Amino acid sequence: MLTPPPLSLYVHLPWCVRKCPYCDFNSHEGRGVLPFEAYVDALIADLDHDLPLVWGRSVQTVFFGGGTPSLFPADAVDRFLQAASSRLRFAPSLEITLETNPGTTEHGRFEDYRAAGVNRLSFGLQSFDDGCLQRLGRIHDSREAERAVKLAQDAGFDNFNLDLMYALPQQTLAMAERDVERAIALQPTHISHYQLTLEPNTVFAARPPAGIPEHDDAWDMQERCQAMLADAGYAQYEVSAYAQPGRQCAHNLNYWRFGDYLGIGAGAHGKLTLGAEQSILRRWKVKHPADYLAKAGRAEAIGGDERIEARRRPFDYMLNALRLNEGFSLAGFEACTGLDRSAIATELALAIDHGWLSVENDRVMPSELGRRFTNDVIALFLQD
Ligand SMILES: C[S@@+](CC[C@H](N)C(=O)[O-])C[C@H]1O[C@@H](n2cnc3c(N)ncnc32)[C@H](O)[C@@H]1O
Ligand code: SF4
Repeated sequence: MLTPPPLSLYVHLPWCVRKCPYCDFNSHEGRGVLPFEAYVDALIADLDHDLPLVWGRSVQTVFFGGGTPSLFPADAVDRFLQAASSRLRFAPSLEITLETNPGTTEHGRFEDYRAAGVNRLSFGLQSFDDGCLQRLGRIHDSREAERAVKLAQDAGFDNFNLDLMYALPQQTLAMAERDVERAIALQPTHISHYQLTLEPNTVFAARPPAGIPEHDDAWDMQERCQAMLADAGYAQYEVSAYAQPGRQCAHNLNYWRFGDYLGIGAGAHGKLTLGAEQSILRRWKVKHPADYLAKAGRAEAIGGDERIEARRRPFDYMLNALRLNEGFSLAGFEACTGLDRSAIATELALAIDHGWLSVENDRVMPSELGRRFTNDVIALFLQD
């Protein structure tokens, strides 16, 4: 029996000042004056169109992702949140995160985002080394990054994440350690520490920059930084996510627990459990901002609808749940996938045999070895 899990709302804002050469997100260089008001109208129309899919359910988290949401003026964010709260039931403990590029502080005042209801920020810092930032094509230097974080703290934001990347072109282990040290000094509640990947269809994939650390060197950076973060009170709870106690990102946790999310905005993806028809729907919106602006609120704005078939569900579930150190409960697997635990018995036994997973009572958890080979463990659950 499929039971609808907690529901989140993802809102995609698709513009950036400049496209970074490593980035494959749906982000477009915004030229001239951006149509913020028209885009908010489109978001509200899009939400209205999808509302029947989530009637009666309450929303636990909202995440403005991008692109660069901090390009949006606070009154545009405010207008959207007011419209959303009059259409959806917001949970009392609602977490509202806004992604922020430190090079955009002139676009919105942090006080105003707070007044609009945003209670968590996520800064794309990447590194504190100005050479690294330049090679990554970032629009800010380390001084601006530190200033942006301080401005947010002065405005009363005590719950914020810093995004760092490692294994950067020409980065040494000492440089990666220094980045983590400087991030910790800013006292964020959460740090995301991503290994730079060369994504297809990016400038870096076409022309890889010189000096990308070898696999073993990248592994050393990960291990060393993880230990530094643990010493400073940031526990790893997912492959790339570290948090102070009780400060995990509720929005991302809901993805990793195979929760539901409504995806609003250009190219946004959603995943929804439809209890009445006992199915799981994946829906995504058309990608290009101009196309989305023209079609939002009508069926033509839907880029695609796909039902997740039963035989695909174990893999999709593991793709998320096995990223978490906490693993998952077998009862949770059954509720979120509508399958019996016997559907994964063979794969589980194999993973346990390899020493990748352990099962205690109802809970399945990745071992240290399993965490090193996350992709191989997940691949076990791909059924053809
Ligand atoms: C949507 S961006 C965050 C906000 C804003 N766009 C920015 O970059 O400042 C999400 C994060 O994903 C990470 N990221 C993006 N592309 C990546 C890649 N190719 N490899 C690893 N991490 C990447 C970066 O740390 C980035 O901050
Ligand atoms: S600012 Fe963020 S979303 Fe925009 S191109 Fe750079 S990494 Fe991608």
